[in-house]
Amino acid sequence: MEQVAGKVAFITGGASGIGLGMAKAFTAAGMKVVIADIRDDHIEQARTHFVAAGLTDSVEIVKLDVTDRKAYAAAADAAERRFGKVHVLCNNAGIGISSPVSEASYNDWDWGIDVNLNGVFNGVHTLLPRIRAHGEGGHIVNTASMGGILQYSRSGVYVTTKFAVVGLSEALRFELASENIGVSAFCPGGVRTNIREWEKTRPSRYIDEKKGKPSGASAGPPPGFRPNQELMAVLGRMSHEPEAVGEMVLNGIRKNALYIFTSPEFRPGIEERFQAILAEIGNNPELAKLAREHVPGLVSSPIYVASQNETTKPKRA
Ligand code: NAI
Repeated sequence: MEQVAGKVAFITGGASGIGLGMAKAFTAAGMKVVIADIRDDHIEQARTHFVAAGLTDSVEIVKLDVTDRKAYAAAADAAERRFGKVHVLCNNAGIGISSPVSEASYNDWDWGIDVNLNGVFNGVHTLLPRIRAHGEGGHIVNTASMGGILQYSRSGVYVTTKFAVVGLSEALRFELASENIGVSAFCPGGVRTNIREWEKTRPSRYIDEKKGKPSGASAGPPPGFRPNQELMAVLGRMSHEPEAVGEMVLNGIRKNALYIFTSPEFRPGIEERFQAILAEIGNNPELAKLAREHVPGLVSSPIYVASQNETTKPKRA
């Protein structure tokens, strides 16, 4: 979607951090924005910002828990009442649930999947039919993470959800390829946000009574993690401001990027992961050639090749 001015974006988790960074970048580019968020304090802070910036004509803010499907439909109705149509959906709301899979309770698992994965599907299921219906094209950005490309540390529940968001995004991009609706998997590295406050939004139905405290609170930094000045300086260099990341997302929408990355320092880790896969897959060029000729949709996907063309082609005005 190269021309974004006048288009309408719906951003979940849009009242803080990365989502708010997107909202700022989008409004600066002439878009209208609907912010949907679960936290009242974040909603108030976002409202204060946009009032002070004189942007209330371009911004609508609704309270929404992305796991609540009925409320999601009502929020979409509110967005359309205010701005007519939604063109861009940013499924960004997420919790930084740090529970290791090996120690997670059912509640940790269910809550992580409910917000980080089901929340994304709820957004697609609610808003995609409305984007299709107006026929003006659109774009869907699903916020995954570098934890959706690489496993890291002891955050297995989070990593599981984010890998799933990347898979969902790739599948959806293929499905919508002929409909003028782009899909991007957004995989940020470090961004300075409120993500560490994730326990604050845990609903009571996901709290383990026996433990007497939110179960995810037991997870901590990996063994051997010793913060010191040098380490903090490196982590500081690896962290982005949300506003800068919002601009990266806008750029990704404009060029219909399959992946939106923020952090090239993860490249060696990605190379190791793909080398590990290639080392184990084996090689049978003759059968691979036959399979590509006869069942190309089974052994490959056009989205990968098309994406390389998309990002390397010269930019149109
Ligand atoms: P944040 O905590 O500053 O913002 C997330 C917002 O989502 C909050 O305002 C929160 O109230 C809202 N939210 C949480 N649960 C919700 C729900 N059920 N329904 C609606 N809104 C809900 O954190 P941040 O970092 O901006 O997170 C945004 C996304 O970015 C998340 O999906 C996170 O996993 C992802 N991410 C963040 C990274 C970082 O370094 N901050 C790195 C990689 C991915």
